[in-house]
Amino acid sequence: MKEKLLELAEKNRQSLAGGGEARQKKHCEGGRFLARQRLELLFDPDTFVELDRLVTHTCSDFGMQDKKITGDGVVTGWGLVNGRKVFAFSQDFTVFGGSLSLAHARKICKIMDMAMDVGAPVVGFNDSGGARIQEGVDSLGGYAEIFFRNTEASGVIPQISLIMGPCAGGAVYSPAITDFIGMVNSTSYMFVTGPDVIREVTNEVVDLQSLGGAAVHNEVSGVAHFRHENEMFAIAHTKVLLSYLPQNNREKVPKISGSDVLPRKTERLRHLIPENQNKPYDMLELIRQVVDEEEILEVMPDYANNIVTGFSRIGGHSVGIIANNPAYLAGVLDINSSNKGARFVRFCDAFNIPLVTFVDVPGFLPGVQQEYGGIIKNGAKLLYAYCEATVPKLTLITRKAYGGAYDVMASKHIRADLNLAYPNAEIAVMGAKGAVNILYRDRIKAEPNSKDRLIREYEEAFANPYIAASRGYLDEVIDPADTRNRLISGLDMLVTKDKPRRARKHGNIPL
Ligand code: HXC
Repeated sequence: MKEKLLELAEKNRQSLAGGGEARQKKHCEGGRFLARQRLELLFDPDTFVELDRLVTHTCSDFGMQDKKITGDGVVTGWGLVNGRKVFAFSQDFTVFGGSLSLAHARKICKIMDMAMDVGAPVVGFNDSGGARIQEGVDSLGGYAEIFFRNTEASGVIPQISLIMGPCAGGAVYSPAITDFIGMVNSTSYMFVTGPDVIREVTNEVVDLQSLGGAAVHNEVSGVAHFRHENEMFAIAHTKVLLSYLPQNNREKVPKISGSDVLPRKTERLRHLIPENQNKPYDMLELIRQVVDEEEILEVMPDYANNIVTGFSRIGGHSVGIIANNPAYLAGVLDINSSNKGARFVRFCDAFNIPLVTFVDVPGFLPGVQQEYGGIIKNGAKLLYAYCEATVPKLTLITRKAYGGAYDVMASKHIRADLNLAYPNAEIAVMGAKGAVNILYRDRIKAEPNSKDRLIREYEEAFANPYIAASRGYLDEVIDPADTRNRLISGLDMLVTKDKPRRARKHGNIPL
């Protein structure tokens, strides 16, 4: 037995050596961690169980039969993150550039299948030169097997992708199907075609980071959800993100007890919203007053800031927050904010996370570019997402709720459960000026001086929450100081909400 154990130890040693010391040293220059170090940082100490450590590739072209590295460039397994089961794979760039062989793909597929069977999240560390060029179509097939599983797992278990290095070509489509993508500044990049091909085809000259770095995908394309200063922050952030999520779509996030889960008055909110209805204020500040420990983990914080999306806790309940932010573009809904909001609403609905919506929206953004860009179908995504969501939906109108945007932002009519408003709320088809211009066109032409009076009269009559409240479209008009208390009691009441959907294969969200 002693010899057998020595043989096993030698095989394990070979696998742990990865691509060898020289490549590991080069890899770590510039602050990057090795594949196993990343896993160590993610999992609770001594809980990671590695699978398939001795797998090798099966390729014999290009002399590959003489180049086998046990493990084949990816470390896979499961462990505990803050005491909860999580599966993970971590690509090892020191082994054939982390490129994906069929064997490498099968290792990833194995843990994805297990994660779906047992109902636990998957975290993927992506650091790869893409398809293993020597393996040709076997590698492409391996990718497709992963894409297929990403889609099967969508809405069943949370999937998080961390981009720790290159992620290029068709390989980007695995992270793209997962729920969240985090990127590391300076060292990670994602693109479908790289700078060289772009230069040949379109004559555009661009470098790796300007084409697909963390800044680009967090601020411009909206492909990524998080941007991190370094790998350590990326992993720490992922652990916090996981704490807001359930293990799978059959579970709810457990209500936690903490130092700030009890009801309390939010007196400051009586003064946070400016008297002048056209003055901006920061919706994030309002949200922080309401939620436990003033904490919100923002999703896509660098993109479409006119809408805020993020995870938080209210009275110990994990919630998804969506809020118009009047501090940016007056909180208007446009193409980008509709997409950002819709994707977030659908994630929360898939994973039983109640939605709390803060509304201060002047309407949809007017403009030729918005219409040409498809604000109709993109705005419809947010509307559709809210309509189909059956999780508890709580809505608070803090100031404006105008036009179609009133309907979209979790109104009573699209089956929100609890609709609240502040006394200063304005709920109307449009602003007073626009309404008066249409209603009294002839009168204003005849008596131009009457316009200001007519606007005032319209504001007094319609720019308030009481017509909606008299129809039952609002359940309550509240003192802002009671915001947190009302939301906590609403969440406690709705925790047992059960709203089955009509049977169908799937809906047809406007894409
Ligand atoms: C096999 C690869 C590889 C690949 C890198 N390596 N990419 N081996 N297949 N795709 C190997 C290198 O030969 C090298 O081996 C080691 O990994 C490190 O690579 P370097 O080039 O030295 O590293 P670096 O300078 O940091 O450059 C990283 C890189 C570059 C930019 C990713 O390696 C690169 O451009 N690779 C090719 C990318 C690519 O075209 N992939 C195919 C994309 S198409 P040694 O032995 O010297 O250490 C695709 C389709 C997927 O992925 C479709 C799915 C549907």
